Amino acid sequence: MISCKNLIKDYVEGDNVTHVLKKVSFEVKKGEFVAVMGPSGSGKSTIMNILGLLDEPTSGTYLLNDKDVSKLSDDQQADIRAEKIGFVFQSFNLLPRTTVLRNVMLPLTYLNLTVKDREERAKRALLSVGFPEDRWNNMSNQLSGGQIQRVAIARALVNDPSIILADEPTGNLDTKTGEIVLATFEKLNKEEGRTIVLITHEQDVANHADRIIHVRDGNII
Ligand SMILES: Nc1ncnc2c1ncn2[C@@H]1O[C@H](COP(=O)(O)OP(=O)(O)O)[C@@H](O)[C@H]1O
Ligand SMILES: [Mg+2]
Repeated sequence: MISCKNLIKDYVEGDNVTHVLKKVSFEVKKGEFVAVMGPSGSGKSTIMNILGLLDEPTSGTYLLNDKDVSKLSDDQQADIRAEKIGFVFQSFNLLPRTTVLRNVMLPLTYLNLTVKDREERAKRALLSVGFPEDRWNNMSNQLSGGQIQRVAIARALVNDPSIILADEPTGNLDTKTGEIVLATFEKLNKEEGRTIVLITHEQDVANHADRIIHVRDGNII
């Protein structure tokens, strides 16, 4: 499903070049649950942003379902994100002073759906992650960390994505809440067949995946 070859990412500031990714190559098969693990600063988020078409590599190829997607226009990339990819970030990125339901509906803005359809889908996504129905109309800044992350996962699922990209999704959670979130990812993978790329610096978290890709200093090791 995902095939990356010789991905290089350089940042240039004046005379200073930072080589963040140095020929990164790996594959992820459809239906796999893979962890990308490495210490802070090793390039994990850079990899995730490239996989999610939020950033472009300096060079190298990225095939998604056999199609070279890194050279598409911004609009074409946005379409692929809207249709195929679900994102979960460490910092959750929910809109404050906006209800749970509206937050989950957000990724559907770019799809051609009625408000009623969008609401139905958001409700289904919230049910699937076990988010209590009596809080759907709460503002997102009135929730606990664990509840916020469930909303973030529901939001990632609402477009029925074939791939879920999660960047340190348990980084801000206590161990018990983190376990619940990881169990949710396992269910999405094993029962629903979704492909998952989970980014983490923690071995305990990575152990939930079927396979671990180790990253260090911008290299796969
Ligand atoms: N916009 C940027 N400009 C310069 N350097 C950056 C930029 N973004 C990230 N980096 C550097 O790239 C390296 C990898 O960052 P990142 O992919 O966020 O690592 P990780 O997610 O593994 O902690 C770090 O050394 C970081 O400082
Ligand atoms: Mg990171």
